[in-house]
Amino acid sequence: MASRYALRVPSRQPVDRLPAHVRALGRIHHVAVVVADLERALGFWRDILGLPVELVLPIEHDRVTIGFLPVGESKIELVQPTDDTTGVARFLAAKGEGFHHVCFEVPDLAAALTRLGLDGIELIDSAPRRGAEGPVAFLHPRSCHGVLVELIEAPGGPAWSALGYRSTGPT
Ligand code: CO
Repeated sequence: MASRYALRVPSRQPVDRLPAHVRALGRIHHVAVVVADLERALGFWRDILGLPVELVLPIEHDRVTIGFLPVGESKIELVQPTDDTTGVARFLAAKGEGFHHVCFEVPDLAAALTRLGLDGIELIDSAPRRGAEGPVAFLHPRSCHGVLVELIEAPGGPAWSALGYRSTGPT
């Protein structure tokens, strides 16, 4: 019986024609999880799974508190809203705790956004903006099959100096 899920796409996409510096994604920088109570969430991520806590940081202007827990070459980012007004707070109220976004590292964020825009991808941030750990931008889930995708520029990339980061900053 033919399955409607039968593979209809080539197993190898013609990525060779794409500029490597634009499209090549580096590591998964972090996976973000929205939690109602960061301390209670550490009871699982730190105490049960055993991940170390790199930092816990209130981000006043985003009205969230975040925690980073390194794992391999990536991190788990726990995000707790600190008031009811933000998109993250509305996400928590509507959907409950859970997966929020995945962040990929790219070598040149502005170039990647330009290319993605030309591809018709809906950009939440059309230009790199300052994030806690480097220049970041978000792609709309409508263009990403339901996943909120964040891109972060690798340390030392062009947006780091353009946005006035003093050095390569924290890793
Ligand atoms: Co993030």
